[in-house]
Amino acid sequence: MSERPSSGGDARRRILTGIRPTGALHLGHYAGALENWVRLQDDYECYFLIADYQVSDYADDISRVRDAVWEVALDWLGVGLDPEGASFVIESLVPEHAELTTWLGWFLPVGMLERNPTLKAEMEAIEHPEDGKTKGKSVPVAFYTYPVMQVANILMPRAHLVPVGEDQLPHIELTRETARRFNREFKPIFPEPEALVGRVPRLVGTDGNAKMSKSRGNTIDLKDSRETVAKKVRGMYAGPPRGMNEPGKVEENPIFLYLDAFDPDAALVAEMKERYERSGVANKELKERLTAVLQDLMDPIRERRGRYAANMPLVREALEYGTKRGRAIAQQTMELVRDALDLNYLRKY
Ligand code: TRP
Repeated sequence: MSERPSSGGDARRRILTGIRPTGALHLGHYAGALENWVRLQDDYECYFLIADYQVSDYADDISRVRDAVWEVALDWLGVGLDPEGASFVIESLVPEHAELTTWLGWFLPVGMLERNPTLKAEMEAIEHPEDGKTKGKSVPVAFYTYPVMQVANILMPRAHLVPVGEDQLPHIELTRETARRFNREFKPIFPEPEALVGRVPRLVGTDGNAKMSKSRGNTIDLKDSRETVAKKVRGMYAGPPRGMNEPGKVEENPIFLYLDAFDPDAALVAEMKERYERSGVANKELKERLTAVLQDLMDPIRERRGRYAANMPLVREALEYGTKRGRAIAQQTMELVRDALDLNYLRKY
């Protein structure tokens, strides 16, 4: 990979977004966010963050986090993110994120965090776990710092745009408020970043649950083999039981949500919906169509991912190179922050 100077001379607007390294990425990530990243990567100067400061819930399973760093990088490469044009950044290797979090902590009221619905839901899940997994655990301090750190993440490259899944919107609102306050009270150094949610803000799980998520075991992962995808689709929830040629209600069958999300042939989907309600369509036919559509979408992802997986030093290079650029812009921003907060004590004499 050729050495390119850090963001210095780049006139493009900037994107920062990220994902926690907790495991393989799935179709929900793809339709909710990654697709936008790929589409926008040439028009923006992009920083894609592997947010490993945010995985306190996996503190007792760091080997999983370590593996997930590579999984996430491979998934990103697989979907077509370009590690030369964009920067893949490992968060904790840019400790300026922790530093900015500390300074911001001086100014952000705890109440602002307690009102954050994403945080509230996550803390509730720790204290009253559905699956008993976190039983007896209490909420760590990191739960208060991590939304602040997410604000710091976004402010760090002075990002203009944050393409994310819908569940992240409260954090971006918090970032906007913080940027406004900082700019007003100190110096105007931060753009007020906009959020951008993907085409499919929330993809249902293969079990029909409202959200595809790893903890529910209802995902189709970007790295799944053709056989696994076919098997998962065959096992998908397809609405209440129906007889062979019994009409059904489209809105009760989540297979249609997937077809709406991924089938490029909208006319065919419309025809199947019409027939489904009029004279019935066997779930088998719908699932075969969906399998074909997903294989078309995922074949090139699998192929690219496989090529990188066979050459891991190239992936390491992508992470090293991206992290270096992420650090360079972070150091520039921290200069501005220290100046704005008047923290340059040693300049006095
Ligand atoms: N909280 C995000 C998630 O759970 C990951 C993340 C960390 C992030 N920092 C970010 C997303 C900054 C957008 C911007 O996936």
